[in-house]
Amino acid sequence: MVWHKTISAKALEKAGGASVKVGDGVVYISKVKGKLYAINGVCSHAKCILGDLEPEELKVRCYCHDAKFELGTGKMVAPPFVAPNAPMDKLGLATYPIREENGFIEVDL
Ligand code: FES
Repeated sequence: MVWHKTISAKALEKAGGASVKVGDGVVYISKVKGKLYAINGVCSHAKCILGDLEPEELKVRCYCHDAKFELGTGKMVAPPFVAPNAPMDKLGLATYPIREENGFIEVDL
């Protein structure tokens, strides 16, 4: 596992959440109520890039078909509207350690 530097803490503070390229992948990072979250930024349904942060629910919504994922666990908690019977228990996303270091957000992959 290696810590990867992403965007500045200030930029994340302003945006709330952002999909960032990390190595060969994409990670959705967010900061809600002072806590940092990092989950795989590629939707498990049809590979769209996440997403629309829903801070009150601690979830991120996929732009493509509205699937929702918990920030803390990566669990899919609402299925894509085009696949309402999708096996949500099998479509969770990985989560990663995240930290702020010297004014930047780092993710451990
Ligand atoms: S690609 Fe994300 S819900 Fe379909």
